[in-house]
Amino acid sequence: MEMYSKAETLELRKKHIGPSCKVFFAKDPIKIVRAHGQYMFDENGEKYLDCINNVAHVGHSHPDVVMAAVKQMELLNTNSRFLHDNLVQYAKRLTATLPEKLSVCYFVNSGSEANDLALRLARQYSGHYDVITLDHAYHGHVTSLIDISPYKFNQLGKEGKKDFVHVAPSPDIYRGKYREDHEDPAGAYADDVRNIIEKAQKNGCKIAAFIAESMQSCGGQIIPPAGYFQKVAEFVHKAGGVFIADEVQVGFGRVGKYFWGFQLQGEDFVPDIVTMGKPIGNGHPMSCVVTTREIAEAFGALGLEYFNTFGGNPVSCAIGLAVLDIIEKEDLQGNATRVGNYLLGILKEQQKKHSLVGDVRGVGLFIGVDLVKDQQKRTPATAEAQHIIYKLKERRILLSADGPYRNVLKFKPPMCFSMEDANFVVDQIDELLTDLEEATLSKAKNSLPTNMQSKRKLPTDGSSQLESNNENISPINGTICRHENGFSGESHTMPCKRIRT
Ligand SMILES: Cc1ncc(COP(=O)(O)O)c(C=O)c1O
Repeated sequence: MEMYSKAETLELRKKHIGPSCKVFFAKDPIKIVRAHGQYMFDENGEKYLDCINNVAHVGHSHPDVVMAAVKQMELLNTNSRFLHDNLVQYAKRLTATLPEKLSVCYFVNSGSEANDLALRLARQYSGHYDVITLDHAYHGHVTSLIDISPYKFNQLGKEGKKDFVHVAPSPDIYRGKYREDHEDPAGAYADDVRNIIEKAQKNGCKIAAFIAESMQSCGGQIIPPAGYFQKVAEFVHKAGGVFIADEVQVGFGRVGKYFWGFQLQGEDFVPDIVTMGKPIGNGHPMSCVVTTREIAEAFGALGLEYFNTFGGNPVSCAIGLAVLDIIEKEDLQGNATRVGNYLLGILKEQQKKHSLVGDVRGVGLFIGVDLVKDQQKRTPATAEAQHIIYKLKERRILLSADGPYRNVLKFKPPMCFSMEDANFVVDQIDELLTDLEEATLSKAKNSLPTNMQSKRKLPTDGSSQLESNNENISPINGTICRHENGFSGESHTMPCKRIRT
């Protein structure tokens, strides 16, 4: 039994929750009251297929995770200044999934805390300050990370980018500077990083770190060409900096074959610092930074104690251990490979069938469908992507659209996602793409002289996000604006828009 009706919940939220905290589907938000596996249920018991919650990694409300939390909570929860076996056992298990030199852990509570600490480690170790980040990257909500997240600071206009931040092109071989037809995109994108370093050094700047997600998620489901990280690491090391791999979204076996996304680059690549979050605790707020002994010792040499009240508490570590156990016991990496390959395959069929599908890319259960208005020009189909996610919601499927143009349908479901789920969502997408293409065709015919027109028109009942996507947006100063989970109606064809708060 709910305490409040949906309308009351919404009212109270408006009154007491900060206006910049957004809801999915602002025009008709969903109230979720329970979830299980890859399904979420609203207050009326309606079931939604969840294609977006990578936090509920081993499935929503997994009973083993719940039990691990309850058992440990009943016994003890305290800070890491006391010796406790859960902390060391978890650190041992976690580091066993990583290359040998990544052996020292710092436990924190969110992806942002992890990345902020990673910056501190990098700066202390290198004695440098500047950071190279990828275009469209998002690394967290705290001040230090907004500074290195073009996804956010680009919305602030010219003043958004600080002088110590250097932005490298996103290694996107579909839409980026060097594409799939380039003979060595990995080398070309890495050379850009080398040029950035040289230019920065000429201006007296010193590079502390290069930070990148192992695959860019908010940036549009980008999979860097293999070999790119190795080359970048070489240049960054030469400049005295370190390589930070942000695995907050993509780690813990999501890519199927490997436990970590950076391993897709090849066995010869090992980052200096890895940051983790979201899936690590299956919804429980915990996260971690893993680094080398050398970097950890340089950090320790500062003489400051690192203390974090909640980081590494026995309950969090018990939950972390349960998540690792479930990934193994339920062969979720195997499932990510099998279902991921299948989903990728049936989405590629859609690409052959629909001119709106420009690119389908992904690994394991991390997949992006790049929608375009024009196959040749690769013009992002932003309004169409927004239309599709709104229509999918009506069909009880939760999907998001993201990337710099918010035209990339983004799959990152709980790892228990099944073949049936894949078929269901792709069938629905197929229908919606067909409708959209037919409507576009009919609109084109309608614009012909009347004696050449067909009768079909675009829907005019306001149900189409294509028509209604001006709602909730207001102008700001000339930059493309975005919102992490992509549920506001905004079109890149209106470049000065921001979600109204
Ligand atoms: C790649 C990446 N890094 C870091 C963060 C920040 O994590 P949190 O929201 O847990 O602070 C996010 C959050 O979306 C993220 O996507």
